[in-house]
Amino acid sequence: MTDTTIFPSETRAAAPAAPTILVWDLPVRVFHGLIALSFAGAWITAESERWRLLHVTLGYTMGGLLLFRVAWGLIGTRHARFGDFVRGPRAVARYLGALLSGRPEHHVGHNPAGALAIVAMMALGALIVASGWATYNDLGGDWLEDLHEAAASVMLALVGVHIAGVLLSSWLHHENLAAAMVTGRKPGPPDQAIRSAWRSVAALMLVAVIGFWAWQWQAAPAPGAGVRAAQVHQVHDRDHDD
Ligand code: HEM
Ligand code: HEM
Repeated sequence: MTDTTIFPSETRAAAPAAPTILVWDLPVRVFHGLIALSFAGAWITAESERWRLLHVTLGYTMGGLLLFRVAWGLIGTRHARFGDFVRGPRAVARYLGALLSGRPEHHVGHNPAGALAIVAMMALGALIVASGWATYNDLGGDWLEDLHEAAASVMLALVGVHIAGVLLSSWLHHENLAAAMVTGRKPGPPDQAIRSAWRSVAALMLVAVIGFWAWQWQAAPAPGAGVRAAQVHQVHDRDHDD
C-alpha cells in the first residue's frame, strides 16, 4: 500500500541530472487521453437531441474505460495500482501542509491530493454513466435526469480543480506532469521504474473502443430519420392529447 517513494523537492533540485524513468504504462496514458476526450465530447453534445447517440456513445465509452481502470488498478503496473496511490485523509493533509509550508513532498506516482481528485472523478464518472443509462432507458423520474446533469456539472468542476492541481504541482516541482502523462516518463530513482509499457493491452483497449464506435455508427439511423421519427412521435402524442 505504501511503496511510493516520497522525497522533498529540494533534494531533487540539488540533483538536477536525475534520470527519467518509465512511470505510467501505455494503458494508463491511453485511458487518460480517452477519458478526457469522452468526457469533453459527452459534455459538448449533452444539450441537443440531435447529438444524443454520440452523447450516449461517448458516455458508454467512459463507462467502459472506468471498468477497465478499476481492473488495471488491481492488477496493473506499480504506479497504476490503487494500493500505490490511494491514501487516507492524514496523508492528504500532510501533503497539503508540506505544500503550504513551501517544502512540497515529491511522489513518483500520483500525490495523495491528486489521487483524491482522481478517485472522486472516477466515482462521479460511474454515477454519471449509471444515471445517464437509467434516464436513456426511461427507468426513473425527473430526479434521475437532474442527478445526471448535477453529477456531470460537479465532475466538470473537479476536472477544473484537477487541471489547476496539475499545473500547480508542475510549477512547484519544476517538472512537466502533463508531458509525463503523454510520454510516461518522469525523473526518479531507477528502482521506482516500471519494467514494461504494456503496449499490447493499450492496443487491445484502442481496438475495443474504436470497434464500439464503429458498431454504434453503423447502427445509427440515417441522417434525418431521427428527426422524422421524433416528428411522427410528436404527431402521435398530439393525436392522443386530442
Ligand atoms: C476531461 C478532462 C480530464 C479528465 C476526466 C481527467 C482525468 C484524469 C484521471 C482519471 C487521472 C488518473 C489517471 C490514472 O491513474 O489512470 C488523471 C491523471 C492526470 N491528468 Fe487528467 N484528466 C483530464 C484532463 C487533463 C488535462 C487537460 C491535463 C493536462 C493539463 C491532465 C493531466 C493529468 C496528469 C498530469 C495526470 C497525472 C497526475 C499525476 O502526476 O499524479 N488531465 N486525469
Ligand atoms: C461522460 C459522460 C456524460 C456526461 C458528461 C453527460 C452529461 C450530460 C448533461 C450535462 C446533460 C444535461 C443536458 C441538458 O442541459 O439538458 C445530459 C443529458 C442526457 N444524458 Fe448524459 N452525460 C454523460 C453520459 C451519458 C450516458 C452514458 C447516457 C446514456 C446511456 C446519457 C444520457 C443522457 C440523456 C438521455 C440525456 C437527456 C436527458 C433529458 O431528457 O434532458 N448520458 N448528459
